[in-house]
Amino acid sequence: MSVVKTLGQFIIEKQKDFPYAKGELSRLLRDIGIASKIVNREVNKAGLVDILGEVGTQNSHGESQKKLDVFANEQFISALTVGGECCIVVSEENDEPIYINSEISPNAKYIVAIDPLDGSSNIDVNVSVGTIFSIYRRLSTDGPAQLKDALQNGTEQVAAGYVVYGSSTMLVYTTGKGVNGFTLDPSIGEFCLSHPDMSMPKDGYIYSLNEGNYVHFPQGVKKYLKYCQEEDASTNRPYSSRYIGSMVADLHRNLLKGGIFIYPSTASAPNGKLRLVYECNPMAFIIEQAGGRATNGFKRILDTEVESLHQRSPIFLGSENMVLKVEEFMREHCPELAPREVESSEL
Ligand code: AHG
Ligand code: MN
Ligand code: MN
Repeated sequence: MSVVKTLGQFIIEKQKDFPYAKGELSRLLRDIGIASKIVNREVNKAGLVDILGEVGTQNSHGESQKKLDVFANEQFISALTVGGECCIVVSEENDEPIYINSEISPNAKYIVAIDPLDGSSNIDVNVSVGTIFSIYRRLSTDGPAQLKDALQNGTEQVAAGYVVYGSSTMLVYTTGKGVNGFTLDPSIGEFCLSHPDMSMPKDGYIYSLNEGNYVHFPQGVKKYLKYCQEEDASTNRPYSSRYIGSMVADLHRNLLKGGIFIYPSTASAPNGKLRLVYECNPMAFIIEQAGGRATNGFKRILDTEVESLHQRSPIFLGSENMVLKVEEFMREHCPELAPREVESSEL
């Protein structure tokens, strides 16, 4: 008989890896798992919304039908509020951090940054979307939590994960001791361990980026793309191009099969599109934990100084040797884009 291990059982089992843990992080992960099941239920019936004529209408409370990314945001915020372990939520959907009232959660020690629904433009066409989350421990020791608690660099993450709402729904997370993946079994309503100790191939043959923006790409990315498309049997080129347009889904595929995901800077968007705190940092943490590499083309993503909650960063992440290769092209063809090191005399 095969033994099923649920996310809840796995989290409790792993708690012993953290000798001083009192179970708060475990409860936080459990809360995220619960909210993601509710979001999953709604994502799965998204196509029914038009049939039922709910868009643009009002419900019995007089509230208008919410877009799914607003719905997802509300679910995660309320699960994290009720759970009692989180003092600040940073969300793509909220300009300001959400401070959870310390009367509700007097012992809350954690900050959660989330992209509640990633790839949301894919919802309308029944293509995979996701959720990304990142968890930090609070720095301030007394009084209400403060903005500085939320402005921590990616190296300080204590856990990060994503949920992919795809042909099946999976939750993948790390606490810095490897990466584990759980598939939702809808018949029992539980995430079950399906991908223990995930590790990413060092070499991959898939590149994922929005090639429609080619003309705007930095010279190093253009040259790397041409390299991917050249014929060379010894390195298995040309590589395949795969781009879903949901970072979570693109990265999940590349994590399993090997590959690189790139969202570079352009002249008009010098920091690219994706957000450091709740897209790049959690994904970089997961990819590194799975043996991959994550940089901004020059420097490790996790070492980027976090200055504001919604700041953006170019990102190159995936199979280690592919990322190293594109970094060579960046250094050679567009060294002027390398982030300037601050001289010690300027500090
Ligand atoms: P979100 O739906 O949270 O705004 O994120 C969408 C992101 C990411 O998932 C995806 O990789 C990228 O935007 C796609 O952007 P382009 O359409 O510019 O390729
Ligand atoms: Mn996103
Ligand atoms: Mn989003």
